[in-house]
Amino acid sequence: MKKVRVGIVGLGRLGRQHAENLAFRIRHCELHAVCSVSDEEVEEAKREWGIPYGYTNYDEMLENKELDAIFIASPSGFHCEQIEKALEQGFHVFTEKPLGLYVDEVIRVKEAVEKHSSQVFMVGFMRRYDKSYVYAKQKIEEGAIGEPVLIRCYGFDPAKAMAGFMNFAKKNYSGGLFLDMGIHDLDLARWYLQSEADSVWAIGGAYDYPEIADLNDAETGAALVKFQNNTMGIFVAGRNCAHGYHIETEIIGTKGSLRIGTVPEKNMVTVFGEQGAIKECSEGFIERFEQAYLTEVEEFIQCILNQRQPKVTVDDGVQSTILGYACKESFETGQLIKVESHPAYVKAT
Ligand SMILES: NC(=O)c1ccc[n+]([C@@H]2O[C@H](COP(=O)([O-])OP(=O)(O)OC[C@H]3O[C@@H](n4cnc5c(N)ncnc54)[C@H](O)[C@@H]3O)[C@@H](O)[C@H]2O)c1
Repeated sequence: MKKVRVGIVGLGRLGRQHAENLAFRIRHCELHAVCSVSDEEVEEAKREWGIPYGYTNYDEMLENKELDAIFIASPSGFHCEQIEKALEQGFHVFTEKPLGLYVDEVIRVKEAVEKHSSQVFMVGFMRRYDKSYVYAKQKIEEGAIGEPVLIRCYGFDPAKAMAGFMNFAKKNYSGGLFLDMGIHDLDLARWYLQSEADSVWAIGGAYDYPEIADLNDAETGAALVKFQNNTMGIFVAGRNCAHGYHIETEIIGTKGSLRIGTVPEKNMVTVFGEQGAIKECSEGFIERFEQAYLTEVEEFIQCILNQRQPKVTVDDGVQSTILGYACKESFETGQLIKVESHPAYVKAT
């Protein structure tokens, strides 16, 4: 079978993991080119993994017609421009979340994806490929909890990742707490509740790390969302979690509820000692979602080989960005935001 030749842009915290998966762990796939603004990262990937092509300029990578697909793991502020350019050059495209940071740019991307409908396009909402989240979806569809009426989400990064985050955030590429971290939960809420948002009120603060307030962002924040089908969402996100990486989701239905990741266990081991019974917690996104990152990329490659589109669509990217942006706007203005009357939202319909 033909191998799909992929060029990746971004070799940072997540891009490196994706690159290793593409190079060594995905069938019918070949990591053929790497690109980063860091010459060191490019040379290291070429040398250590034997990648034939390396670039420090994205536009130059797009001139390599040996490639079939472009994989975008650069900072979020670059996604839209890089997606549009890659589509225009005829490549299949995978982009990390969020699709973009502004509503007008994601709407432009939607138009570009629709114009290039024979090219595969996928957004990296990897939780939709995590076994536990998939199982929960299946249980809901089987009626195990009746009709879902509320989703409660916790998304916390470990405090010990703060230095890396500040580096990322200072460059102003993250989009803020809700677009960067909350976006996964906002997408999951749309998936589980089967509705778009109606209105949102978001609050937050910088409690232990006041320097985050200088970036006009929240270290810990919460958003309350009413969905168009009268269901509800409570989203809590933060960057300062003492015990590790805590991703927890609860869906409450008319006949029961289910929870995913209530204790973010590292593994099946419990250590019994003078401190009591200790379950260690997962330390970061790669450890927690290792399987999901692999499965989503397998799906992307299979979509290319079988000429079909993935279930996660550009609309999922657009709608979650619109909702994430509304959270950000509400946090910044202190106002309740009516999502459907957002001017850019109206433009999208
Ligand atoms: N799905 C998830 O769970 C998850 C987790 C972490 C990050 N992400 C997303 O992945 C993306 C990357 O995040 P990260 O934490 O790996 O960032 P990072 O800052 O660690 O790495 C960014 C990489 O992009 C390169 N880069 C920067 N500007 C570039 C440009 N103009 N052209 C080419 N390369 C450029 C940098 O040199 C670096 O290699 C972000 O969009 C982030 O939201 C998703």
